[in-house]
Amino acid sequence: MADPGPRSLLYEGIMLPALVHSTESVRYAQLGFQVRDRDVFSVTYPKSGTTWMQELLTLIHSDGDPQLARSVPSWERVPWLEQTTAAGFLEKRPCPRLISSHLPCGLFPTSFHGSNAQVIYTVRNPKDVCVSLYYYSKMASFLEFQEDFGEFVELFSAGKVLFGSWFQHVKGWLGLRDRLNFLLLTYEEMHQDLRGSVERICQFLGKPLDARALDGVVENASFQAMKQNKMCNYSLVPENIMDQRISPFLRKGVPGDWKGHFTVAQNQAFDRLYREQMQDVGVRFPWDEP
Ligand code: A3P
Repeated sequence: MADPGPRSLLYEGIMLPALVHSTESVRYAQLGFQVRDRDVFSVTYPKSGTTWMQELLTLIHSDGDPQLARSVPSWERVPWLEQTTAAGFLEKRPCPRLISSHLPCGLFPTSFHGSNAQVIYTVRNPKDVCVSLYYYSKMASFLEFQEDFGEFVELFSAGKVLFGSWFQHVKGWLGLRDRLNFLLLTYEEMHQDLRGSVERICQFLGKPLDARALDGVVENASFQAMKQNKMCNYSLVPENIMDQRISPFLRKGVPGDWKGHFTVAQNQAFDRLYREQMQDVGVRFPWDEP
């Protein structure tokens, strides 16, 4: 691993933004945090639909009522386990706690294993993740930034970006996919059929919603609704930390944006790497070739 850069922290070979992580906070997540059976985790590699799932889980637990989602910041409603604020947000919170995490499976709390806590793992086409992360690195002053997109693709391909390799992250978590307390979702299926995806989440959580509540969830978790909700569009974050004039946090919100960014050569090289890395995974994703 190359030098992580001044804005990053290296934890067990994984690069993390130092602004909101410390060695102690990640060690606490891994070793000190006590998972409870009714905890619900949303796990994602960055830029894969984390904020979207934070909104969906809040709305599902509020029976489609947007009041909570519009009055409390998303990072407080569904806090990140590995960030420095986690203990303060989570320790005294009653169950069911809704918790976000970007941690690779190997760094997840040891107390998770053997618990009945549930994990929803949302995965997104890595080329779109790469594009989204490129723009995010431009607008977020706490991230290392590579001016040239081609160089960024190389760093992303080599896993030299925050939270390490997309391939390692996805393959690690897919190892849990046969467990009853694990739900695998894709950004792409959420985009294609949000209502159906919400129904799958509700079924997994054992929280059926009536049609009106479902309408409330789907309406308030649309890209347009979220863009207008200052509790999840990151407009509460000062401009010197996130400059949305450079690139909005909720940027495009579509699958396939990579097509306007990857050159033919970059695309071929990435496809080769993808085939090498994913050939034995045994899961077909919406972006996989037929
Ligand atoms: P883009 O940069 O491609 O627009 P994360 O929350 O994990 O950081 O992911 C951010 C990405 O999810 C951004 O992708 C953002 O626009 C997209 N996103 C967030 N909410 C969304 C929604 N309701 N519908 C579609 N995409 C959404």
